[in-house]
Amino acid sequence: MTATSLLSRRFNFFLIASILAISSKLTVANFRPSQWYSAHATFYGDETASATMGGACGYGNLFSTGYGTDTAALSTTLFNDGYACGTCFQIKCDQSPWCFTGVPYTTVTATNLCPPNWSEDSNDGGWCNPPRVHFDMAKPAFMKIAQWKAGIVPVLYRRVPCQKTGGIRFAFQGNAYWLLVYVMNVGGGGDVGQMWVQGSGTGWISMSHNWGASFQAFANLGGQTLSFKITSCTTMETIVAWNVAPANWNVGLTYEADLNFH
Ligand SMILES: *[C@@H]1O[C@H](CO)[C@@H](O)[C@H](O)[C@H]1NC(C)=O
Repeated sequence: MTATSLLSRRFNFFLIASILAISSKLTVANFRPSQWYSAHATFYGDETASATMGGACGYGNLFSTGYGTDTAALSTTLFNDGYACGTCFQIKCDQSPWCFTGVPYTTVTATNLCPPNWSEDSNDGGWCNPPRVHFDMAKPAFMKIAQWKAGIVPVLYRRVPCQKTGGIRFAFQGNAYWLLVYVMNVGGGGDVGQMWVQGSGTGWISMSHNWGASFQAFANLGGQTLSFKITSCTTMETIVAWNVAPANWNVGLTYEADLNFH
C-alpha cells in the first residue's frame, strides 16, 4: 500500500467518524416496517402477565422497565441468540374463527425466548421448535387479537420501528472490573448489534454480547464518567451517547441517554 492510499484511507475513516459524530446529534435515519409474513401465535402466563417477567432478554420487571404487557417470547428462529431482544412487531390474527374481527393488529416487543421442546411434535405442541417462526405472546397481548380459548392462531406479522419515549437506558450490573449493561428502551430497530464503552480515562472499549439484551466490558471503569457508542443490529446505524453515567456510577442503577434511534 502506498503512503497516499494509506493517507486517503485514514482521511476516509476520519470523514466517516466525523459524520457519525455529527449524526449522533441529529435524528438517526428511520427504520421502515418490513413486509408481512406468516407465523403462528400462542400465549403464556395469565392476564397479569407475571409469568412474562424476568424473561430471556434480561429486562427484569417489564412494568418498571416500560415494556408492560404488550410483549412476546420469540421462537429460537426469530430470537437470534438474543440479538432480537427489543425488536417490535405488529401481529394480526389471520383467517381463524377465533380472530377478533375489526382488530387490525397489535404491537408487541420481544422480551423473551420461547424455548424448543423436542418431546413435543413441531406441529403439535412444539410450536417454538426450530425452524418454526412463532410468537408466544403475553396473554393480555394475545387477547387483543383473538379469543384465548383458541390456544393457537395463524398470524401475519411484520417488523416495525419501536416507538419510544425518552432516550436509550443502560441498566448497570457487575462490579468495578466487569461492567454488565442491559440496554433498554431502544427506539427504531429496537435492537443492539454492537456496543462500546468509554471511560473518561480510556479510549473506546468494545463490549461483548453476554445474553439477551446485555453487553459487557472487562475493564476497570470505576470512578470514571462513562459514554456509550451503540450500533443498531438492524440498520447498522451508530449513535454516541456522551457522559451517560457520572463518575460515581453504581451497579443496580439505570442511566438514560438524551438520544435514541427512531
Ligand atoms: C415438554 O413437553 C412435555 C410433553 O408435553 C411436557 O411434559 C414437558 O413439561 C415440556 N417441557 C417443558 C420444559 O415445558
